[in-house]
Amino acid sequence: MAISTKSNPWLLEEVRRFDPNVPLEAAWLPPKSWYTDSRFYDLESETVFKHNWLIAARSDQFKKPGDFVAGSVAGEPYVVVRGEDNQLRAFFNVCRHHAAVVMAGAGCEQALVCPYHGWTYGLDGRLLRAPELGAVKDFDRNKFGLVPMKVGEWSGLVFVSMTENPRPLGADMTELARRLQEMSVDSLQFVARRKYTLACNWKVYVDNYLDGGYHVSYLHKGLAGQLDLDSYKTEIFERYSIQSGAGAGGSSEKSATDFSERIGDKVLYAWIYPNLMINRYGPMMDTNWVIPRGNAQTDVIFDYYFTPETARHADFVEKSLAASDVVQQEDVEICESVQRGLGSSSYDQGRYSVKREHGEHHFHKLLAADFRAV
Ligand SMILES: [Fe+2]
Repeated sequence: MAISTKSNPWLLEEVRRFDPNVPLEAAWLPPKSWYTDSRFYDLESETVFKHNWLIAARSDQFKKPGDFVAGSVAGEPYVVVRGEDNQLRAFFNVCRHHAAVVMAGAGCEQALVCPYHGWTYGLDGRLLRAPELGAVKDFDRNKFGLVPMKVGEWSGLVFVSMTENPRPLGADMTELARRLQEMSVDSLQFVARRKYTLACNWKVYVDNYLDGGYHVSYLHKGLAGQLDLDSYKTEIFERYSIQSGAGAGGSSEKSATDFSERIGDKVLYAWIYPNLMINRYGPMMDTNWVIPRGNAQTDVIFDYYFTPETARHADFVEKSLAASDVVQQEDVEICESVQRGLGSSSYDQGRYSVKREHGEHHFHKLLAADFRAV
């Protein structure tokens, strides 16, 4: 049975220990159980990851019929595929026979064939072949198609939703779309993907991202000199936030990994609830998909995009990826450190920086609302 705060008094009590109505100045961080107890992971799988649009693929991966991308998030395998009719569809990527995951990776196929017993589904999800079923009774193959998910595109990205009636995708993100347009994201090309696996809860990684630059001058000393942290600001929207600021300009001090030509004169770091970040700076953009793999394990997928001019310069691309990796390694280490600290009996709830951490507070309020919805 699905876990909920209604059926689990302990869970309700722990959810209530973060009060979303208390203003930032007086607020306490959520208790550590939100990050360490697997019942919260189960609750999130039922709420946060069921009720919201989730990043699933890039639009550029679906150029022709048969193009597909498979993945999974919070324990739910999905596959997105372009049909013969050019329609983009998404399905739970689970065979209706014996539950094997049907498609892996990305590519182009004429049909979706389960590798276990060869059950074959059309690009529209219909069951076409179920080999060697023999004299099976009461089997209506029309009722054994792949189970559909909602799918939609926004700003060159493909999202899926596992709820019947999701809110319209992108309807509340018009200002973000405008700002990304202004920074000409449409002209950027996908160039490379990197994946990081972290021994921490996914929310530890999101919190770290949403601390309003608080950790940058301490943890990312190479990056800090290239960002004007005084101009850095966080703006809160309904279900996303934008951190932005100026680059520090042509620095005379060149650090070992030179960030200045990567950063440019303006940065925009957008976070979309629950688990997507879009970072636009200089001639580049990266998106970060924060994918929970369990209570204390998280994958973060980085997709890097460049302007057509810079994408051609392998040397610049390589240096940029290396510079980004330095920052990511620092974030991986601190997030894993936080997860270890959350396990300590000495810690339960912390406090917010009023100056820096309202983006993080906003995230916790959105979580609290989702947790209380079931
Ligand atoms: Fe960081």
